[in-house]
Amino acid sequence: MKKIVVLFWGKAGNVERAARKVYAMFNADETDIFDVDSFDVSTIENYKLIIWGGSTIGAESWLDTKANNEWNRFFRNIEHFDLSGKYIAFFGLGDQVLYPEHFVDGLGVFKEEAEKVNGKIIGQWPADGYKFSDSDGLADGRFFGLALDLDNQDELTGERIKKWTDQLKAASGL
Ligand SMILES: Cc1cc2nc3c(=O)[nH]c(=O)nc-3n(C[C@H](O)[C@H](O)[C@H](O)COP(=O)(O)O)c2cc1C
Repeated sequence: MKKIVVLFWGKAGNVERAARKVYAMFNADETDIFDVDSFDVSTIENYKLIIWGGSTIGAESWLDTKANNEWNRFFRNIEHFDLSGKYIAFFGLGDQVLYPEHFVDGLGVFKEEAEKVNGKIIGQWPADGYKFSDSDGLADGRFFGLALDLDNQDELTGERIKKWTDQLKAASGL
């Protein structure tokens, strides 16, 4: 039984590219990766560490909880699970140059949804090295998960993912 799962949406773009890099940092014998649409939600309790990855693509589509998108479907499907005892971590993609007032807002949604299922959230990340004016994805100078900007700082992506996944391994003991 694998212990770690990386779940991502959307497909075939920056998010999937980042998700595959995150996955590559873990032992393949212990780790699964799925886009959220292909994931069998009934297996979620098999995992000890659950990693979510997504991008912020505007308040109207992503943050509207009534919107019909893959993450919202997934969150509705997991709401009856009690994931206390499971570690949940997330990474969020955004563009700090084009959207400085909403940089990686989606991390705030991930945090709320992880709290609803009682997950133990790990992988908070310092906001140093990013330039933005506002975000729903952080508090007290720390993002709720790893913030990635593949549009403007892609040269830092590999290093950020390496450090962050090391942090997850240390915090989860996996
Ligand atoms: C329509 C649209 C809206 C976006 N809105 C935001 C935003 O509010 N905040 C942010 O940080 N990034 C925003 N972005 C940037 C994306 O999150 C970023 O480009 C990401 O890497 C896209 O990932 P993908 O290629 O997997 O779709 C937006 C991008 C698009 C196309």
